Amino acid sequence: MSLFLECINGQPVERPPIWFMRQAGRYLSEYRNTRKRAGSFLDLCYNSELATEVTLQPIDRFGFDAAILFADILLVLDALGVNVQFVEGQGPLLDPVKNKKDIEKINNAGQIHEKLSPVYETVKKLKKQLPKDVPLIGFAGAPWTLATYLINGKGEQGSLTAKKFLIENNEEFEEIINILTDATIEYLIMQIKSGADVIKIFDSWAGALNADMVLRYSLNPIKKIVSKIKKKHPSIPFIVFPRSVNTIYSNFSNEEYFDVLAVDQFLDRKWIANNIQPKKIIQGNLDPIFLTQSKEVLFEELKKVTEDFKNYPYVFNLGHGITPDAKLENVELVVDYIKRTKF
Ligand code: CP3
Repeated sequence: MSLFLECINGQPVERPPIWFMRQAGRYLSEYRNTRKRAGSFLDLCYNSELATEVTLQPIDRFGFDAAILFADILLVLDALGVNVQFVEGQGPLLDPVKNKKDIEKINNAGQIHEKLSPVYETVKKLKKQLPKDVPLIGFAGAPWTLATYLINGKGEQGSLTAKKFLIENNEEFEEIINILTDATIEYLIMQIKSGADVIKIFDSWAGALNADMVLRYSLNPIKKIVSKIKKKHPSIPFIVFPRSVNTIYSNFSNEEYFDVLAVDQFLDRKWIANNIQPKKIIQGNLDPIFLTQSKEVLFEELKKVTEDFKNYPYVFNLGHGITPDAKLENVELVVDYIKRTKF
């Protein structure tokens, strides 16, 4: 087994495993080159040869302990028949789904596989090419986060459009969540069958919901997805990332069906160490901004993170994705530091 799998299965390990959210991304010149060759971002996601190449780039360069499939959470919406585009400098743009007629058109969770077959192909290629001790993380967006893009047609700070829709059109909203839950189950099962060793669920906009809503529309659909998949694939570990949910992280840590709770950089680390770590293996929470700073500033922060989390199993990661302006020498410093850390 690998260090990463041993750690998240609760076995004793001598140091925390390390990987980064968005580790294959624009901060790497080799990613920018391959991306150019692919054409658009979506072309890159659906080209299994090139998607395999960019997944491997950060593994080859830095020696991370886990690889994450190169794809995007919005592909599943594309596969459901929604028009999805990534516009340079603007992020994702989609045709919004709002009324019963639009919802009916995307009610086809069983038919997503043809469009997504290149992603499954990428998983298979990666399993052949990755070093044996580097497991592959498959992933999907949580239904709520997918719904925010679907309802609003683009990302929106605070997700207010989707939140109002949740309140004002609750029946339609629940129908959307159900469709996205079913499609995600289908999608993740195929990733597992193709060879993914671990699954991560990203609920990046969970923090836009109030506490009751988080439980109902972030936690519940995630619970349904993980529980259903674990019935068929009980040994696949799940990482859940409900970003920015504040003290509701505590509710998530009480849930038994998943394995690792990924935490953002906004939580107080001492609070995490006292309230979350005794109940759940955690992953996080270095603020990605420190990767843009001087070595000295980064080093001080690294010392704090590893000191605060040292008493329980822990996967080193960022509190959110690495940004395009991260310095390569800082990533090297972090990997080197963590590989020399003794727990
Ligand atoms: O290395 C990896 O982490 C694997 C690949 C991966 C990407 N996106 C590639 C990507 C993963 C796991 C994601 C998840 C994702 N995608 C999330 C959840 C995690 C998070 O960041 O909160 C979300 C919300 C998305 C949706 C998305 N994709 C947005 C909003 C954007 C535009 C913003 C941006 O950073 O440009 C993307 C584009 C995207 N997805 C890029 C990458 C490498 C940048 C695209 C480019 O090359 O221009």
